[in-house]
Amino acid sequence: MAEYTVTPWEVSGKIDYEKLVKEFGTKPLTDSLVKRIEKQAGKSHLFLRRKIFFSHRDLDLVLDGFDKGQKFALYTGRGPSGHTHIGHLVPWLFTKYLQDAFNVELYFQLTDDEKFFVKDLTPEQTRDFAYENALDIIACGFDPKKTHIFLDTEYAKTLYGIASRVARKTTFSTARAVFGFSNETNLGLIFFPALQAAPCFLPSVLKGKNIPVLIPAAIDQDPYWRGIAREAAPKLGYPKPAQIHNTFLPGLGEGGKMSASDPRTAIYTTDDEKAVDKKVGNAFTGGQPNVAMQREKGGNPDICPVMHYFHFLFEEDDKKVEEQIQLCRSGKLLCGEHKKMLAEKVNAFLKKHRQKREKAKKQIEKFMLRD
Ligand code: TRP
Repeated sequence: MAEYTVTPWEVSGKIDYEKLVKEFGTKPLTDSLVKRIEKQAGKSHLFLRRKIFFSHRDLDLVLDGFDKGQKFALYTGRGPSGHTHIGHLVPWLFTKYLQDAFNVELYFQLTDDEKFFVKDLTPEQTRDFAYENALDIIACGFDPKKTHIFLDTEYAKTLYGIASRVARKTTFSTARAVFGFSNETNLGLIFFPALQAAPCFLPSVLKGKNIPVLIPAAIDQDPYWRGIAREAAPKLGYPKPAQIHNTFLPGLGEGGKMSASDPRTAIYTTDDEKAVDKKVGNAFTGGQPNVAMQREKGGNPDICPVMHYFHFLFEEDDKKVEEQIQLCRSGKLLCGEHKKMLAEKVNAFLKKHRQKREKAKKQIEKFMLRD
């Protein structure tokens, strides 16, 4: 059995990201590409410094074009199957950094149709989650003048036209090979990849001229771009969409990504302080079974979600991250103390996020793209 699985519908096991780059045929994000982005942004980002974004396709081409005056558009999305957890925020926060750095438009797809096809949810539920998720997206601070959010079922008039063109150029045998569809797969899901590919060409359609697209997203979404959108692009006369991929924020349990299907190990943006304290308090750690052993042998930060969270999101200062790792290994830092530090950071972050989320309720129509 494989040690890990990474597909758009399942992410599990201990992922070997270097191997994944080879398997998927993407390119590692080099230091020189990181520098080019940071130079444009005028500031570094911990997601880049710490290789949380680690892989890409054609990012160099997009940056070359930009240097020559060719503006690109950003595209990312969310499958609204539940409330937003902090793992979802990773690509969104990075997308905000890119929007600021390059001053470009962002198209944000909410695939309420997809989640109706794959989950045990009604169309009304996935639509409601889409609007809930939109509040978290807006709370990330995107520019309302340059950010366009849409639901597949509501923006269908425009999207369906583009998706049809993609579908016309994609055979079932290709889609089956890319996604592993079987005789039991419902027809909605079989057509769906054309819909997720459609926004790759939406900026070109809306502006009436070819606009390159860059997609910041977790690497599990790569099959859509590799197998469908990048294949259809030249056939339809559009530029191939470029990608920049992130790794997954681990869950609070032992191994595996933060997943909405295990609410005890996922921190939702809607969780209150008590819930956060409890979830972080119950987290798996790389620590020893008792204090005496921890003092003597030290903990293992490599397998510890508490440490991972500081590294991923909650400690901006690289020196402090290093310091925590040393303190953990040497047994000077106890898991209980570390958890308390983390819960405080998470709660401070969520407090601000929730305020912005409240404000977003009044702004939502400014962001929605309608046809
Ligand atoms: N399929 C994605 C999910 O289930 C949602 C999505 C649509 C997306 N378009 C995207 C994600 C573009 C990243 C980039 O979450």
